[in-house]
Amino acid sequence: MSGIYNSEVWTEKYRPHVFGDMVGQEEILKRVKAMVSSNNIPHLLFAGPAGVGKSTLALIVVKTLFGASWRENYLELNASDERGIDVVRQKVKDFARTKALGDVPFKVIFLDEADALTREAQQALRRTMENYTSTCRFIMSCNYSSKILDPIQSRAVVFRFQMLDKKDVKRRIDLIAEREGLMINDAAFSALYESSEGDCRRVINLLQATASISPNITVDLVNTIVSKAKPSDIKVVLDYALSGDFLNAKEKLLDIMLKESISGQDVIKAIQREIWNLAIDDELKVSLTEKIGEIEFRLVEGADEFIQLEALLAGFIRAGKGCVGGVKGGK
Ligand SMILES: Nc1ncnc2c1ncn2[C@@H]1O[C@H](COP(=O)(O)OP(=O)(O)O)[C@@H](O)[C@H]1O
Ligand SMILES: [Mg+2]
Repeated sequence: MSGIYNSEVWTEKYRPHVFGDMVGQEEILKRVKAMVSSNNIPHLLFAGPAGVGKSTLALIVVKTLFGASWRENYLELNASDERGIDVVRQKVKDFARTKALGDVPFKVIFLDEADALTREAQQALRRTMENYTSTCRFIMSCNYSSKILDPIQSRAVVFRFQMLDKKDVKRRIDLIAEREGLMINDAAFSALYESSEGDCRRVINLLQATASISPNITVDLVNTIVSKAKPSDIKVVLDYALSGDFLNAKEKLLDIMLKESISGQDVIKAIQREIWNLAIDDELKVSLTEKIGEIEFRLVEGADEFIQLEALLAGFIRAGKGCVGGVKGGK
């Protein structure tokens, strides 16, 4: 079977519906599962980076609590979509007015991206939570719990989601690949994972985009999609720079940027990733990383990318002086 030619979005198609289908976040799953099985959950705050299962878990909680009638007992609001707290308040009021159906004595409101609400809106939200506490439970998600008012945090049980491990994301990707009839080797998976920085949604989206070209997923194919510099090309640049060959390093770098039209910032990210794969000592890795940080900052501030990248190479050459015989081979 191949889903490549239909318009389904895989992040939705493969969104887990039960606890057992989620990967990673083991501690959180265990605790939330226990709460749900008692049929009485407190308000919950899910904090953490994007694409690690916050919304997915909120939905699983609701589906497990209410079974087939979950839709009648569940309201989803996105704080960054709803204009102002008044809209939120009115929607909550309308929703909370009627009693929950079934055995569970409350309804659930999922407030996504709660950290997008202003302070004032959060004050109002807090009062709303208090007013409807007998009939409603709130599940809130946010990237940074520090942006959520203390009185809200203290009314909720806070769960801190972690970035997903590579092996956990791989389990999910292997399953999707199997169902969609894709061939994907370890290197190609690594390329997908690395360009997504632990965000499972991005990994799946990239996989789908790549699979729309060919079911045989390779590193090169992934790289054409993410339009990032190939790690092997970046490694050549770094090898030149660290062995003191400025001219060749610069030429190869220009070549990558111009031929493949890759932005300076993407090059920097690729360099940053590749540094950690080089056979150089950790101290040098750290000092190179510091230089990258500096240049990255200047690029964000709008400095000329060619000049800044040349400066980076010059810095690498100086740092590489101490590494005898330049860089030795691969990983
Ligand atoms: N822990 C996870 N286990 C399995 N799939 C996940 C997990 N986290 C994210 N996903 C996948 O990524 C998509 C986005 O996840 P979501 O829960 O919406 O992320 P967020 O943390 O930003 O709310 C889901 O539809 C699912 O396919
Ligand atoms: Mg979400």
